Amino acid sequence: MTTQPIFTLDLGSSKVALLAATLDDAGRLNVQEAGVAPNRGITRGVITDLDLTREAISEAVSAIRSYGTPEEVVVNLGGTQLEGINSQGFHPIVPVGRTITSADALAVVNHSRQVRPEPDREQIVAIPREFKVDGQSGVSRPIGLSGSRLEVTTHIITAPIANMRNLQTVIEGIGLRVADIVPNPVAAGLGFLSAEDRQNGAAVVDIGASTTTLSIYRGGGLAYCVVLPLGSGSVTADLTKLLKMAPEEADQLKRKHGRAVNMKAGDESTVEVRQIGQSQPRHLQRRVLFEIIESRMSEIARMVAQHLDRSGMKGMLPGGVVVTGGGSLLPGTPQLFGAIMREPNARLGTPKVEGPAALRASGPEWSVAVGMAAYVLQGQDSDIEPANGLDHWKERIRTFFMKV
Ligand SMILES: Nc1ncnc2c1ncn2[C@@H]1O[C@H](COP(=O)(O)OP(=O)(O)OP(=O)(O)O)[C@@H](O)[C@H]1O
Ligand SMILES: [Mg+2]
Repeated sequence: MTTQPIFTLDLGSSKVALLAATLDDAGRLNVQEAGVAPNRGITRGVITDLDLTREAISEAVSAIRSYGTPEEVVVNLGGTQLEGINSQGFHPIVPVGRTITSADALAVVNHSRQVRPEPDREQIVAIPREFKVDGQSGVSRPIGLSGSRLEVTTHIITAPIANMRNLQTVIEGIGLRVADIVPNPVAAGLGFLSAEDRQNGAAVVDIGASTTTLSIYRGGGLAYCVVLPLGSGSVTADLTKLLKMAPEEADQLKRKHGRAVNMKAGDESTVEVRQIGQSQPRHLQRRVLFEIIESRMSEIARMVAQHLDRSGMKGMLPGGVVVTGGGSLLPGTPQLFGAIMREPNARLGTPKVEGPAALRASGPEWSVAVGMAAYVLQGQDSDIEPANGLDHWKERIRTFFMKV
């Protein structure tokens, strides 16, 4: 027996990806169907054109029509304006020494949410990083323990209210409901990181079309995140400008012949490129192509490395650095990021899924859609009743970030 399917929708700057997922008896994610459509309505992770985004979602919905039509979707929220902050909560247990319940866990997490974001921002999620019972730290799941004082450290992600409203408008505009909103940095690593890596520490770098997201998981929760305003689209834009190519041609060239790192000196091989206004293709040295790409990819990696330093978690990542997102498909990307971030353990992260459409959703550009499915399906906690209403996700603690 598998669970009811849920639908996750990744609204990206280059594509919209829709997934129907279930959980099988062994607790594994099964992808039942996956549909994708190009999207021009989102810039740097934020909806800038409602109509174009609606059209893209409708196209993705049509693509999975033979499987079924969603009534509600779990949708991501990206954008460079996402912010993650750490907060603390406190909750007395009365009578003193009684067993801690799920209501206590919810209460202490909610207490940590008392920090008020600026008036134009809203909290999306508060992820428990660590509980303390009577001063004893390192508790990942307090429910069932006895104590008199419960404390928590959470990572709270906030976003501009306008971005959340636009998300709702676009989804509801095509007759769908928003079941949940999951920030990109939360979802990015959940499709492939092991529970051990999330516990011990791992950094995930999701290189999208116009954003790159760094998520650092540690202690089972999310410990740091940032969304940077550069992605693989910047590489395409460089090729377009420097080689005087049409953007589509430049993107094709990047996908077909690109590499994130240059090759050894002495190779004089060439590729054909079509330039605007030229009737004949020109021969371009591969070395030159790789140089252009490496220079931009290195810039992105350096920005990510700066944030890793800032996070204070450098040297605390036994799970290493995992690059994902469509931009990580350039050969050599893990090596380049590993070298610049000075993390020898760097690899490519692709979703680990089963099911009839598993193959279709197994590329790194599916990490966010699959991660959202993992977050919802593998993190349901029947102990903790969600509150009703539009903003119900605010009242929920996903057990994904607590050991059960
Ligand atoms: N095979 C490939 N080789 C190199 N680059 C690729 C390949 N496939 C896709 N890309 C690049 O990956 C980018 C798209 O990645 P992805 O689908 O993860 O972005 P997105 O989610 O739409 O954007 P964002 O997360 O920034 O909003 C594009 O710039 C595209 O050119
Ligand atoms: Mg993306």
